[in-house]
Amino acid sequence: VQSSGGNVTGKFGHSYGYGFLHEDINNSGDGGIYAELIQNRAFQFSKEYNVSTDHYWPINNAALNIKFLNEPLSKALPASMHVAAGNGSGEVGFKNDGYWGMDVQVQTYTGSFWVKGAYNGSFTATLASNLTGDVFGSIEVPSQSVADVWTEHTFELVPNMAASNSNNTFAITFDSAVASALDFNLISLFPPTYKNRKNGLRVDIAQALADMNPHFLRFPGGNMLEGLTNDTRWDWKNTLGPLKERPGFQGVWNYQQTNGLGIMEYLEWAEDMDLQIVLGVWAGLALDGNFTLQEDLPPFIEDALAEIEFISGPANSTWGARRAALGHPEPFELNYVEVGNEDWLSGYPGGWDSYRAYRFPMFYNAIKKAYPHIQIIASSSTSDPADEGATTGPNPKEGIILPEDVLGDYHPYREPNELVEEFDRFDNDIGHIIGEVAATHVNGATPPRWNGSLYKYPWWIGAVGEAVSLIGYERNSDRIPGTFYAPVLKNNNRFQWPITLIQFDADPKRTTKAVTWYCWSLFAHHPISHTLPTTSSNSSYGPLYWGAGKDEARNGALVWKGAVYNTTNGDNVPVSVHFEGVAPGTLANLTLLTNSVGDPYMYNDPFTGINIVHTNTTLVAAGSDGAFKFSLPSLSVAVLDTDPA
Ligand code: AHR
Repeated sequence: VQSSGGNVTGKFGHSYGYGFLHEDINNSGDGGIYAELIQNRAFQFSKEYNVSTDHYWPINNAALNIKFLNEPLSKALPASMHVAAGNGSGEVGFKNDGYWGMDVQVQTYTGSFWVKGAYNGSFTATLASNLTGDVFGSIEVPSQSVADVWTEHTFELVPNMAASNSNNTFAITFDSAVASALDFNLISLFPPTYKNRKNGLRVDIAQALADMNPHFLRFPGGNMLEGLTNDTRWDWKNTLGPLKERPGFQGVWNYQQTNGLGIMEYLEWAEDMDLQIVLGVWAGLALDGNFTLQEDLPPFIEDALAEIEFISGPANSTWGARRAALGHPEPFELNYVEVGNEDWLSGYPGGWDSYRAYRFPMFYNAIKKAYPHIQIIASSSTSDPADEGATTGPNPKEGIILPEDVLGDYHPYREPNELVEEFDRFDNDIGHIIGEVAATHVNGATPPRWNGSLYKYPWWIGAVGEAVSLIGYERNSDRIPGTFYAPVLKNNNRFQWPITLIQFDADPKRTTKAVTWYCWSLFAHHPISHTLPTTSSNSSYGPLYWGAGKDEARNGALVWKGAVYNTTNGDNVPVSVHFEGVAPGTLANLTLLTNSVGDPYMYNDPFTGINIVHTNTTLVAAGSDGAFKFSLPSLSVAVLDTDPA
């Protein structure tokens, strides 16, 4: 078999990379990578979710009630919690049980809360066990609170001992003999964050992602970009500045969201992990199928242009100045903008037609005019079932919505066998990103499989199937700039989409890299700048699939990536890799990933902590014919790399 080579920076100008889509699903943002420990910190609510005192518990019989005061903390946060001594006496107040608990270590916690009401005393902020009441740390916070004014109180709390588990709470109390009732809002507590960012990311989760050596971050969705209705989309302007100006929104994954992980936090995340951004801009269509008519679109196009300017405009531009005021005068690098998400799904009753007829072209023309360097991505691919729902117009492949310089976006959520069948999917196609991919269903899942349950966690044969498709995408990387795992994170307590790269809960000891993480990480740690043309003595691919490249950034290191995918246990596959011009005796590292327990459906279970992926790196020397010879077992993934690093 043969494949042709090419420069992976190709006509789209940026080198190939692995990355992920992040949207707030599975409590992956709030209660996930966003490090805030307090759940329901500002009593936010929306059409779908009522405001409540959920996650708060009274201390010493205090009475907790939601109030909409005439003078709220802010327009964005109109509800607050009235805490009255009620039948209680002495120290009264409330505790919060976090996002299914909170981790307590001997480290600095940064906290704040707003209070309204006259109080000439002290507050006590405490981290304690929810099981035993044992106090791990507490601090007195002198009150500055006066009648009729909202006052912020800040503190740092360093527990004197760590908790042995995450079933812990955070409490605030006050002396009911001095004040019989006070109003509270925006109660916040952060552990140290990734790269010490204020309002930043949870260290263990961010580190697990960074360890993968990712190259791309696509945000804010996914479905979350679209919103449930046209009025309830992820509005980036609501995510800016002080937390008290962020109203939150109802999200699309069945829970209220805080807007804490806002656009600046996403951008800083990208900056801190050195990630290229793929920004999804709202394209005037929501998940309920409603879409914005042509005459109503201009303000949303202006909004997208403002968002792009906020990210990448100079500090003296209107929105660049806003970013500078928020502490980041230097523009962020922005090379990719995607218009909408999965608009092909909206074929009826006209959403897709409208995307082709005017929505995509209007966004495309406006963005291209203002930012000619930006690579625009259409939220559709050449194999989407667009025409099934569309009533007019040709297939996108014929060029209506995908002009020459536009990339498509392909989202294969598949069975492992299907991912393997996709190996040559892009050999003769236009450029795409693989904006979402994962092996979600086991082979032979009963159709219609999206009505059936997903597997519990990513499993080994799925990871190998994914690896085959990844090689297929990467060997076409002159037209495919990147591949994105989706969705990337899951809190074990919200199991709505189990197939994710990293699982976690409040206890960092359970932060778990899925089996797929190891394959993505292996490939991401061996980047190439050029694909190499290959020939083989085999007449077809399978069970061994491979691709080859070199990396100019690493002194022309030669890289071979392969995977053996077979559904029944077979013999080891002998492999002989010969790079043109390699002298006998040249050394290369061969890294081999296998499943140490044998069962192809085994996965990494956060509750056992056992990693079933076995990683073995050996040094291989090219033989007298210049070829590297080794053999690969069934269901394995391997990389050969001549770079000694
Ligand atoms: O990744 C989960 C969802 O799958 C995304 O939100 C959406 O784009 C896709 O349908």
